Amino acid sequence: MTLDAEMFRALVAEASLSPSVHNTQPTRWRLTPDGRVQVLEDESRRLPVGDPEGRDLNVSHGSAVEGFCLAAGRRGLIVDVEHDGVHVAKLTVRSGEVSDPLAAFLTQRRTYRGKFKAGAGAHAALARLEQSEDLIVVQAPKPIAELARLYDEASLRWFRNAAYRAELVSWMRLSRRHPSWSLDGLNAEAMEMSGIEAAGAGIVLRHGVFETLDRVGLAGALVAEAAVVRSALALVLFHRPANEASFDTGRRFHRAWLGFTQAGLSAAPMAVLADDSDARARLQVDFGVGVDRRLITAFRLGIAPVRDLPPKPRLGLDALIV
Ligand SMILES: Cc1cc2nc3c(=O)[nH]c(=O)nc-3n(C[C@H](O)[C@H](O)[C@H](O)COP(=O)(O)O)c2cc1C
Repeated sequence: MTLDAEMFRALVAEASLSPSVHNTQPTRWRLTPDGRVQVLEDESRRLPVGDPEGRDLNVSHGSAVEGFCLAAGRRGLIVDVEHDGVHVAKLTVRSGEVSDPLAAFLTQRRTYRGKFKAGAGAHAALARLEQSEDLIVVQAPKPIAELARLYDEASLRWFRNAAYRAELVSWMRLSRRHPSWSLDGLNAEAMEMSGIEAAGAGIVLRHGVFETLDRVGLAGALVAEAAVVRSALALVLFHRPANEASFDTGRRFHRAWLGFTQAGLSAAPMAVLADDSDARARLQVDFGVGVDRRLITAFRLGIAPVRDLPPKPRLGLDALIV
């Protein structure tokens, strides 16, 4: 079969709901005259400081392509994914029965960065997640508290790098007046910040201000998230074969997260625990992650409060389809 333009647009729209690092949405899509799909990269959306090797970039591409495949599956289409060394990937779509229970959660998943609701529960769901060979589920309060401490420690190390901070801030949209508030990046609402908190964050992270606050010992407390992390029902360490291509990791990353959504759990990654070499080395040892595996990220999981939320910030199809 040939993929027509209308179906292609519907699939890209759904795939665009996939997670991407800092919500950079680096993946672009092109329908070729023979009805195949070229997956491309918008190189202006790389993170040279935070992600110099392009790991998170390629995890984001893999996530987006997995989203495309799931969206296609819901419409009775199978997608073959190929790599030609030129494009991020090349996709061929054909008719066929696919029954993937995760597909239904593609449009529901979203990052939740606030405090989780108190209360136990979800034991059966967490036990199911524990069966996955690439997930380690941490539920006891003591190791959760220790990971929360380690997370703040690693975050502060990264925030002390002014270039990293500047790059992160360039993807933050701290005011609704920001022209990209509803398009991309991390807006205050998605970061669970009030208007005042967002304005404060803009000042605290500024070059010079952060360094001054750090000298008097205040910066750590201002960027700390331990209380939010400790409110989680569980932390999940996601680890993959050390030699796996990041694109393939991204496909599994997205599926793992949809599995959390399917279990009724909201999640936020805490990538710094894997990006910071000290934290990663410590976690790999403490939690017995084999040397042939790499910690990709840690997620915090829990029950989010029920609220009416606006659509997620996303680029329009005019930007995504090239
Ligand atoms: C590789 C990768 C790393 C990420 N790391 C973090 C992180 O450290 N902290 C965080 O809050 N969100 C993280 N995210 C989540 C993205 O910020 C999120 O997917 C994006 O803002 C889009 O929002 P959505 O997940 O609600 O669709 C990460 C996502 C990806 C793909």
